[in-house]
Amino acid sequence: MKAVIFDLDGVITDTAEYHFQAWDSLAAALGIPFDREFNEQLKGISRTESLDKILARGEADAHTAEDKLELAARKNMEYQRLISALTPADVLPGIHALLMELRDARIGIALASASKNAAFILDRLELTHYFDSVVDVTAIRHGKPDPEIFLTGAVNLGVQPAGCIGIEDAQAGIQAIKSAGMFAVGVGTPSQMQGADIVVATTAELSLRMLEEHFFRG
Ligand code: BG6
Ligand code: MG
Repeated sequence: MKAVIFDLDGVITDTAEYHFQAWDSLAAALGIPFDREFNEQLKGISRTESLDKILARGEADAHTAEDKLELAARKNMEYQRLISALTPADVLPGIHALLMELRDARIGIALASASKNAAFILDRLELTHYFDSVVDVTAIRHGKPDPEIFLTGAVNLGVQPAGCIGIEDAQAGIQAIKSAGMFAVGVGTPSQMQGADIVVATTAELSLRMLEEHFFRG
């Protein structure tokens, strides 16, 4: 076990909830039905792909490319308003301790987030210094469920995929980790985390010891 590659939203901090709230208010303004079950499909997916999925539930053809840019920007403004108040207290349970254990054990740490707000959020949480690599999502050609973002994390750390654990809260993310040939840890319910090698209900269950136990058991 050489490296752990983390998703951000919903794994390191509960910003998945803020994405939900920001999309929810946009959908409401557009008169498009939106709920938590549908929102599961948006986790791990880029802003523009998420918007397309939401608009497809309404009258998608009614929106020009220019409209879409404006709508995506509107969602992002609301999202940025919500994340501007993040503090280190918003790091999810168990994550800080795990990052310290990994650093002390000299296990590589990378971030594989689809979010263009990722660097800002890590800074707000005061976690940037733990990461040996934060994959630049603007340089990634294929988003999750494609493995590219996780494979890039492994390359940046100089490790083989087989020596990596990926941690995700999105179905698209679990698929990306498995397609990358890595060990997948899902945070959520087993039905949301299909294909994961192990599933934890909350990040409080994560520790270096439990990751090692499951990783070496295969
Ligand atoms: C992912 C989230 O981490 O980032 C998605 O799970 C989100 O919900 C995506 O759409 C893109 O985020 P952003 O901040 O670039 O709009
Ligand atoms: Mg996530």
